[in-house]
Amino acid sequence: MPKRFAANSLEQHWLPFTANRDFKQEPRLLAKAEGVYYWNHRGDKLIDASSGLFCCAAGHGRKEIAEAVYKQLLALDYSPHFQVANPLSFEFARRVAELTPAGLDYVFFANSGSEAIDTAMKIALAYHRARGEGQRLRFVSRERAYHGVNFGGTSLSGMMRNREAFGLGLPGVVHMRHTWLPEQRYEKGEPTKGAELADDLQRFVDLYGATTIAACVVEPIAGSTGVLVPPKGYLARLREICDRHGILLVFDEVICGFGRTGKAFGAQSFGVTPDMMTMAKALTNGAQPMGAVAASDKIYNTIVDAAPDQAVEFFHGYTYSAHPAACAAGLAALDIYEKEGLFDRAAAMSPYFLDAVWSLRDLALVTDIRGYGMLAGFDLAPGTRAGMRGMEATKRLFAAGLHMKFTGDSGIVAPPLVAEKKHIDEMIGVLRDVLGKM
Ligand SMILES: Cc1ncc(COP(=O)(O)O)c(C=O)c1O
Repeated sequence: MPKRFAANSLEQHWLPFTANRDFKQEPRLLAKAEGVYYWNHRGDKLIDASSGLFCCAAGHGRKEIAEAVYKQLLALDYSPHFQVANPLSFEFARRVAELTPAGLDYVFFANSGSEAIDTAMKIALAYHRARGEGQRLRFVSRERAYHGVNFGGTSLSGMMRNREAFGLGLPGVVHMRHTWLPEQRYEKGEPTKGAELADDLQRFVDLYGATTIAACVVEPIAGSTGVLVPPKGYLARLREICDRHGILLVFDEVICGFGRTGKAFGAQSFGVTPDMMTMAKALTNGAQPMGAVAASDKIYNTIVDAAPDQAVEFFHGYTYSAHPAACAAGLAALDIYEKEGLFDRAAAMSPYFLDAVWSLRDLALVTDIRGYGMLAGFDLAPGTRAGMRGMEATKRLFAAGLHMKFTGDSGIVAPPLVAEKKHIDEMIGVLRDVLGKM
């Protein structure tokens, strides 16, 4: 059969979150990865300043993970999880639950952060229904939030571009104000001002009635929007308001989880325990697609106990929930995190890292810097159109040997947690060089 497309055609892959026409004229291809580096298809080396997409905490090309996945695929390539199971998933759930705050001991597996968020929303609704409060249907989210791209996450999303083309979303989702204030500009770590922004949740209680609100969903640090660190006391205040009104608090830890904040999760770093946490990305070090929700014992028991004997309690799940290869990758990743003490390492490296990012403050193009742990964001003065400067920076940095994720005009720096000081210096060196000339 004659082939319809040239062997090297790039056209057929419709790339996600990408300017496809522009990209295909001048593609940026990643062909190989090891440690904190990528190589493009021409063999040029690039330092990875964003852990891929905040996934590869233990760096790239980890043989332990590759071997675990290979062995698992030969032993048991696939097993469903509806009414049967594979032994590995129980071990992995237990290992994940060892890392979550005490009392968040039940783990539901999905395949991405977006699925984890939709799962958490359904768990919240099912929980309230099981306890006879099925009228709690509203969700409170926040401006500038990113909770993935399924319809649940899109509805929670607080980024206009991720919403505007996709209709009205789920009914009953309302948004608190984001936590960035001009007074916080260039403040390192948790901003001192802004805890009172949590009272937006109380205003929704006053407006709609607490008994209509199922859950409040926030990222501990809003990551994708360009890293907004919660003001001191903000998350605790959300917790108090939720407790007062029977509202579930959900932390989306998809970026913050697995050491990014210097502890296992943002929940521990900020000392606030939610009722559910979503996770993905570094759950498997990015080596297999996987997401998960950790739910409190109270939530699990309420839903499970409400169902009659031998009845399915929660009508939700995915063909690939707890895929054996993903569980194997996750277990190997957690072994590495533990053996190499990567969460402590992140905490120890954070001051050096943040100082290094803050050293870019004198660049004319940089208008703000924010950061906590091993996660930092900086804003570039916008160009002719919002996002153009970020796009230009992405391209120039790639050409100069640095991979970094931009959202609009905000750059997000999140090195693999195995990065050494010399790697951080290298990243900052390229950033200074390139941004200084733009
Ligand atoms: C906080 C947060 N939630 C959810 C998601 C969605 O995850 P995924 O792209 O795996 O669906 C992301 C992705 O960046 C995220 O940062």
